[in-house]
Amino acid sequence: MEKKKPILFDVYPNLEGKVPWLSLLTGIPSKVDRLKDLEKYLNLKTGALYIKRDDKIHNVYGGNKLRKFEFIIGEALKKKKKGIITLGGIGTNHGLTCAIITKELGLRCELFLSLQPLTWHVQRTLLLSDYFGAKLHFAKSFEFGVFKSLLFRLFHPKYYLMSNGGSPILGVGTPLGSIGFINAMFELKKQMDEGSIPVPDVIFVPAGTSGTAAGLTAGCKLLGLKIKVYPVKVSMDIVVNPKRLIKTANKSIKFLRKRDDSIPDVKVGKNDFQLIKGYLGSGYGTKTLKGQNAVDLIQDLEGKKSGFLLETTYTGKTMAAMIDFLEKEENKSKTVLFWNTYNSNDLDEYLRETKFDYKKLPKKFHKYYTSKIFQCWQVTDCPEEIKFKCDAYLNHEYRFWKVAECQLDESKKQKAMNYLNEIKQLEDA
Ligand SMILES: Cc1ncc(COP(=O)(O)O)c(C=O)c1O
Repeated sequence: MEKKKPILFDVYPNLEGKVPWLSLLTGIPSKVDRLKDLEKYLNLKTGALYIKRDDKIHNVYGGNKLRKFEFIIGEALKKKKKGIITLGGIGTNHGLTCAIITKELGLRCELFLSLQPLTWHVQRTLLLSDYFGAKLHFAKSFEFGVFKSLLFRLFHPKYYLMSNGGSPILGVGTPLGSIGFINAMFELKKQMDEGSIPVPDVIFVPAGTSGTAAGLTAGCKLLGLKIKVYPVKVSMDIVVNPKRLIKTANKSIKFLRKRDDSIPDVKVGKNDFQLIKGYLGSGYGTKTLKGQNAVDLIQDLEGKKSGFLLETTYTGKTMAAMIDFLEKEENKSKTVLFWNTYNSNDLDEYLRETKFDYKKLPKKFHKYYTSKIFQCWQVTDCPEEIKFKCDAYLNHEYRFWKVAECQLDESKKQKAMNYLNEIKQLEDA
């Protein structure tokens, strides 16, 4: 595989060798596409809507984590670590990405997972993390997960402890993840210079720990761009807040300047971004009506054509915020970029290999497969000869009739449709 050096090292050659990095991305620069159907749907005037396709940044699993991991795992390897410890909710995309990448690199992966609202996405991600070789540890709460992971690290010094989301917590931890997104902003600048996209007025991006948004904001500042980053808050205030974002952004700039003092001496402040609130719902991972509607809209408009889908924890809520923004008359002439942070590669082939055998997971996780069921075949007792050939099998928690033509008789199909519509658990946030 051809190694694609960070563009940041081309602009600032002194950084090479001084900033830890390893090549992981197979799809950079990620494409910038125009969302013409959504523009039409929103009745934009002179405005234009683009998407940065980080969902295709890796051949197995795309999404925002890979950009962070090139630098963070680069440091772990530099320190000659044999494995990565990290933490998150039981449906963590961050943990799954870590499992996939550590497997690729021949490292071990230990995930400390705490409860989050149960969805099919959660059940699916947990099975996949196990499939890709991560060792799963259950923690009653996030705080307990932190404690257990620290304890594990104490007894396993050959492991590298990566914070959840790869972002510093309370100012503690490496800013390397956000440097991945400073680099991403330099990549976008090159695409703007080449004419792939005009300079956007606004970038919408989910903020889970805000490491991604901090990097993009710091990148804009370093490049002197007047783009306003709009991080959409999808976690609680204590996790995502302007103070933390500013701290992470400035820590990243400081880290780079320490290694190359020709880098501009700038600081991110509260006017460089606008944190968008009001889309979280009652907590991290909850499904909101607006978020779900945005996921559905994108599936209808772009699902088959552009091959990207959203999910309800991060990107659906962010899309909902962007739609509300663009529905306002005064924004209809703006150029807006949606930074897609979720994967769009198909993982169904791996999931099918798990045969949905959740009993292989540590016992403490089993109840998350029996307390709630989300798949059509679990409701209808779909026969194996139909189920195993059906695209909806292990694919989606509802609207299976949109994923595949249902081969069951009408009454069974109706039963599954009714049940799955009922369990959507949508909050009117
Ligand atoms: C799909 C997706 N988008 C966004 C984020 C949040 O990124 P950050 O923690 O950098 O804010 C995550 C974090 O896990 C994610 O999985």
